[in-house]
Amino acid sequence: MSGLFITLEGGDGSGKSTQAGLLADWLVESGHTVLRSREPGGTELGLELREIVLHRRGDIAPRAEALIYAADRAHNIATQVRPAVGRGEIVIQDRYLDSSIAYQGAGRVLDGEEIRKISVWATEGFMPHLTVLLDLDEEIGRTRLDESRTRYDRLEAEANTFHARVRASYLALAEADPERFLVLSATDSIESIAAAIRHRVQALLPVEH
Ligand code: ADP
Ligand code: TYD
Repeated sequence: MSGLFITLEGGDGSGKSTQAGLLADWLVESGHTVLRSREPGGTELGLELREIVLHRRGDIAPRAEALIYAADRAHNIATQVRPAVGRGEIVIQDRYLDSSIAYQGAGRVLDGEEIRKISVWATEGFMPHLTVLLDLDEEIGRTRLDESRTRYDRLEAEANTFHARVRASYLALAEADPERFLVLSATDSIESIAAAIRHRVQALLPVEH
């Protein structure tokens, strides 16, 4: 039996890890085997790439940045996610290729379609069954980060105009693929967002006999 691959997307501070945790707890309580993953940094190699792409001092050329995220993704999917889904597990992952299209495409102003193709090549076209987009005004996201961070990474440190482009790109991606995306407002309560996600995931689970 094939499992499920669920990704969470949204700006920094939109509540992705909060919701990933709640969804994982609910699924485990219902008897499912769940793997939590994230990009960048879901694997050992990925952790090294994460350190470079988020915390290295000095510039990284936008195309180099895009390729580092794609390398992290290629390794994560090949060694961790695809095998787990093949075993019938449910993978809940913080960020996937939509992050690259939004941040490297719209944010860094590279061609979004080219960025998408790089990730499709990197993952041999492995796509999520469901992508939850937590939509958040970039200024509210900034306030949430200010309250929870002691330091910003290279992307978080970008201007609000960068994050506004990221948000608009996410919404356009979701609009173009309503079958895959569930768009929720990240300013709703944590519990009501969690309930909406559970409702959608329930419909994807195999029917119990
Ligand atoms: P992300 O993983 O998207 O960066 P987090 O889950 O770490 O976001 O949440 C960022 C901050 O916002 C945390 O302090 C978290 O408690 C808070 N938060 C998460 N969801 C909500 C929500 N729906 N309403 C208000 N605050 C939230
Ligand atoms: P994340 O781990 O979600 O950061 P945090 O948990 O601290 O919010 O993501 C790290 C940063 O990497 C985030 O600012 C978005 C960025 N990113 C990209 O620019 N492109 C990508 O393909 C991915 C996966 C993340």
